Order: sequence, then structure tokens, then C-alpha cells
Amino acid sequence: MGKIIVGKTTDIQPGKMIKVSVDGKEIMVANINGDYCALDDSCTHSGASLSEGKLDGCKVICGWHAAEFDCKTGKLIKFPAKIRDISSYNVVVESDNVFLEM
Ligand code: FES
Repeated sequence: MGKIIVGKTTDIQPGKMIKVSVDGKEIMVANINGDYCALDDSCTHSGASLSEGKLDGCKVICGWHAAEFDCKTGKLIKFPAKIRDISSYNVVVESDNVFLEM
């Protein structure tokens, strides 16, 4: 498992998400009141960018059809149809650098 820097803590303000590209993969990184988490950016329903959706506490709501995923685990919380959970990644902050463990 490697550690990849994806930005500075100042790049991701509390309550915000950014999209980063790591090894050709798009990943959403969120700051939930100083607690960072990361998921695949592409919604498992129809591929919308989750970083363009909305954060609501510890969940991200897809902007297209409102699927809700737990930001920490990637577990599907709510959607009318069964769709897959989404991959989640461990986020580590060292001084003011934000890293993904992949
Ligand atoms: S693309 Fe995300 S809920 Fe449909």
C-alpha cells in the first residue's frame, strides 16, 4: 500500500469536497469538520461525479438521482433501487498535507 499526496488541508475546506486524479482514477476527497475521507468519485448508479453532489454530515448525496453513500465506508445508505457500495480509501493528514493510502 502506498501513500499519495492529494493536496494541502487548506485545499479542502470543512464541508467541501474536491476531485483528484490518482493513477488515472478519479477520487472524491471530503473534509467533514476536519475529518477527511475519500471515495471513488464515480457514482455506482450511472457514473455522476460525487464531488459535484452535496455533503450532508457524514454522507454524500449524488447530484443526479440522490443516491446517498457513507463517506467513511462507501456503503450505500439510500436509493430506491439496489446499487453497489462505492470504494473508500483511507486518508492520512501529516502536518498540513493530505494523503490517500492506496
Ligand atoms: S448517477 Fe448517482 S444516483 Fe444516479
